[in-house]
Formats: sequence, structure tokens, C-alpha cells
Amino acid sequence: MSAQGVNKMRRRVLVAATSVVGAVGAGYALVPFVASMNPSARARAAGAPVEADVSKLEPGALLRVKWRGKPIWVVRRTPEMLDALPTNDPRLVDPNSEVAQQPEYCKNPARSIKPDYWVAIGICTHLGCSPTYRPEFAPDDLGPQWKGGFFCPCHGSKFDLAGRVFKGVPAPTNLVIPKHTYLNDTTILVGEDGGAA
Ligand code: FES
Repeated sequence: MSAQGVNKMRRRVLVAATSVVGAVGAGYALVPFVASMNPSARARAAGAPVEADVSKLEPGALLRVKWRGKPIWVVRRTPEMLDALPTNDPRLVDPNSEVAQQPEYCKNPARSIKPDYWVAIGICTHLGCSPTYRPEFAPDDLGPQWKGGFFCPCHGSKFDLAGRVFKGVPAPTNLVIPKHTYLNDTTILVGEDGGAA
């Protein structure tokens, strides 16, 4: 073989060797990435807790997150909304939350840990539709006694802003409050409460 031919051959061998190292390198780079993604995806599917950041939630607004494939609501209730809650009591099925639709620490008039932030599973207790947030007071379609709450479009169930069901609608019980806890002032962990009652 000529000197030129030998050089060409060397170049080919070098290129092939580099490609193999490159492929192996890419393989190693991929494995830790996939390994770090899989457990959290599996955990989420199995119902791992989720964090809700309420730092930008305006008074009166509703934040949606997902937990175990279900819609979770966090409502930041205004003082007016909180003041209106007890006025609904005579028209509610279970105003004192006697039915266990909430953890013990939410069995209180506001059905929450802190009065202003209210957490609930956004699924109607009739047949599982997701009710609509209707925070306004006395809108035409819901009547003069309406002081904010949730209206289920499927069969007309109504809940107040603590998720308590009104009398005379198909839903039998209040909305469910999931386990939750505060990691700090503006982060709520949904799905875990560190064993609180
Ligand atoms: S599913 Fe909500 S009223 Fe029937």
C-alpha cells in the first residue's frame, strides 16, 4: 500500500473509533436522565402528593392543580366570602360537616386549615362532574341568596364556598377535602399531612 493509502486507512479507523466513543458517551448521558424521570412519573401516577403554589393567587380567585388524576381547587376566600358562609347554614344539608368528607382538622365552619385558603377535590358528590366556580354574589341565574359557591352543570347541584351542599339538589354530601398541609406560607402540599388527624 502507498503512503497515501496507509494514511487514508488510519483516518477511517480513527473516525470509526471516535463514533463508538460518541455513541457510548451518549448512552451514558441518557441513562441517568431516564432514571431520574421514571420514579417521579411513577410516584405521580401512584398518587404522590403535589404542591400548590398560592403566592400569586389573588383574593377571590381559584387555582387548579391535579392530584391522582383529580382536579384539586384552592380558593383564596375574601373576608366578604368568609362572612357570608354562616348565612348559608339554614339552607345546607350538612352545615357542620358531620359526614366525614374532610380530615378532622378541616371539620370547622370554614372547612379549612387557614380560613382564607380553601382546598377541595373539584368533583361533584352526585355523579362526578366537575362543578363550575361561581364566586359572584346574587347573579341573575342563581338568585339573590347566592353568596358565591359552585354550580354543577350536569344536574344542578349547588355548593357554597366551603363546599357544603345545598338542600334540594341531587348531590348528597359536601365536597371532599383532601389531606393537605402547609410547607410554608405560600405552598400547600396536597395528598399528605404528616399524620395530622
Ligand atoms: S354530577 Fe353534579 S349534579 Fe349530578
